[in-house]
Amino acid sequence: MESLDDAGVYKLSEDLAIIQTIDFFTPIVDDPYDFGQIAAANALSDIYAMGGKPLTAMNVVCFPTKSLDISILKDILRGGIDKMKEAGVTLVGGHSIDDKELKYGLSVTGIVHPKRLVTNAGARAGDKLILTKPLGTGIISTALKAGKAGKETMAKVTKYMATLNKKASELMQKVGVHACTDITGFGLLGHACQLAQNSQVGIKVNSNSIPTFKEVENFANAGLCPGGLHRNREFYGKMVKFSDHVPDYIKDILFDPQTSGGLLIIIAPEAAEPLVSKLRKAGVSDAAIIGEIINKPLEKIIVE
Ligand code: CO
Ligand code: CO
Ligand code: CO
Repeated sequence: MESLDDAGVYKLSEDLAIIQTIDFFTPIVDDPYDFGQIAAANALSDIYAMGGKPLTAMNVVCFPTKSLDISILKDILRGGIDKMKEAGVTLVGGHSIDDKELKYGLSVTGIVHPKRLVTNAGARAGDKLILTKPLGTGIISTALKAGKAGKETMAKVTKYMATLNKKASELMQKVGVHACTDITGFGLLGHACQLAQNSQVGIKVNSNSIPTFKEVENFANAGLCPGGLHRNREFYGKMVKFSDHVPDYIKDILFDPQTSGGLLIIIAPEAAEPLVSKLRKAGVSDAAIIGEIINKPLEKIIVE
């Protein structure tokens, strides 16, 4: 746990380490089954980001038994279990408490060969950055709460949030990845900053190549930004330098906290295009090269 990485790793033997992670949160969509799927996909993601294979999971549940019907909890758990099945993960237990505010997630244990562990510390100058899911889920969830996001938009975004990072993780390992992290609460720029710090490099991001949900531009321009977006900007903004031509809504999107976001894959330049086409063929259809690793300025993100 020495770096700000996605999960904790413990070496059991020369050829086996376990990866442990926990993630749980309050509902971000209305449908309980969808929420269960998203929460499980999100919790499993940290194992995938580190190049691991998730094996077992435990449910973490906070549920208001006095104000909500128990059938809601059943639907949430069903969504979680279906996602675990898809991931090949066995549910081995869990813990639940009566709480005023509903929360759900998983504690997950995975395995990895210690030499094949992927961290956010292996990026080298010249490497390319690949992002595997569009950005904007935080802004869209905020628009949903304000009654501004329609059913179609929510269905589309829900599908992405419930999508496992499994395929992307398997493919990046096949081609030989240098570093990786998944994009969640700190937004693309927050996680990029952590990667730059841990790898002791700088990062150049091309704002024109960022995959986003098309609805996000209007929502961001209407000020529908989650609190976490402003906190990310306050905390990481001093490490980021934007070119003058980068529009404000793109800046918002880059700081937007993601739920169950994609992987940010750092890979040798010659391997980047082939990986993107493999990802797209495998159904990770929004995968795109969004920037590169630079030597200087150290620990800074340049957005052009
Ligand atoms: Co993570
Ligand atoms: Co996490
Ligand atoms: Co117990």
